[in-house]
Amino acid sequence: MFSTYNQLLKQAAKKNYAVGAFNINNLEFLHAVVSAAEEEQSPVIVQTSEGALGYAGLEELAAMVHVVVRRTKVPVVYHLDHGKDIDLIAYIIKSGLYQSVMFDGSSLSYDENVRETTKLAKLAHKNGVAIEAELGAIAGIEDFVSVAEQDAHLTSPEQAKEFVETTGCDSLAIAIGTSHGAFKFSDASKLDFKRLERINKTIDLPLVLHGASGIPTNIKNQCVKYGCKIAEAKGVSDAHIKKAISLGINKINIDSDLRIAFDAGVRQFLSENPEVIDPRKILEPATELMQKVVQQKMRIFGSAGKA
Ligand code: G3H
Ligand code: 13P
Ligand code: ZN
Repeated sequence: MFSTYNQLLKQAAKKNYAVGAFNINNLEFLHAVVSAAEEEQSPVIVQTSEGALGYAGLEELAAMVHVVVRRTKVPVVYHLDHGKDIDLIAYIIKSGLYQSVMFDGSSLSYDENVRETTKLAKLAHKNGVAIEAELGAIAGIEDFVSVAEQDAHLTSPEQAKEFVETTGCDSLAIAIGTSHGAFKFSDASKLDFKRLERINKTIDLPLVLHGASGIPTNIKNQCVKYGCKIAEAKGVSDAHIKKAISLGINKINIDSDLRIAFDAGVRQFLSENPEVIDPRKILEPATELMQKVVQQKMRIFGSAGKA
């Protein structure tokens, strides 16, 4: 069943856990995510990037999501991830197909980010849709050569307070040293927890952690064994995810971990079954592996059993 973004995240904030937000691009990813939520009795956010809409179609993905969500008993929110195209975001808000949208104004100046987020927040709220905003540049801590440079790009607690009060957004994606993709760190994961603690003390909204994939070693090794060149990939450790949740993170975005699970499943199956050409048979183990990964995340995030 559909729930609302604010209901899901407020509940998570009250009980100190995080809801996983998983990117989907097709039916296999959707089935894996919703089946995992059912298995773990967990609330879940299903999200599509603008790239996913370009790949599969906005109406096509929404139709699939609506059919699947209407049938399930676990609470699901359908969310637009990293919306940058203002016209598209406005269309989605008015369409009634999504419960929430993210406006990613992180590449704009602070003032422009405030201006556009405020406009979209008004439109979203008029239409009963929630809005996630972003402040700071989501980039790996190792991308910065100095503390001063980190300070200039990671989310400032003081600016975050002013930003959420001015814009009226429902949640804030913050930059504390995670980055998108499978290559986040050269060694162990490193996040700016002091900054997170200060942001959490300063603002009273659910905080969102992007770029949170863990790149589990067993899945990575399965990819590598069957030919994928990602041996150097490294993600955020489970311990750091748990610590981030304890310091106020209530929504966690995961895409790369599903991608590598899909990749591992398809590669292994094709390598071991070179005579098979049936796409249903080829995709089945990949879908099962993605479901396992999502279930594991729900246990780590503490959302399992909270449906
Ligand atoms: O944050 C980005 C997500 O991983 C989506 O990536 O734009 O390639 O669909 P994408
Ligand atoms: P990962 O690349 O770490 O999975 O991050 C995904 C994300 O933040 C989607 O918005
Ligand atoms: Zn993201």
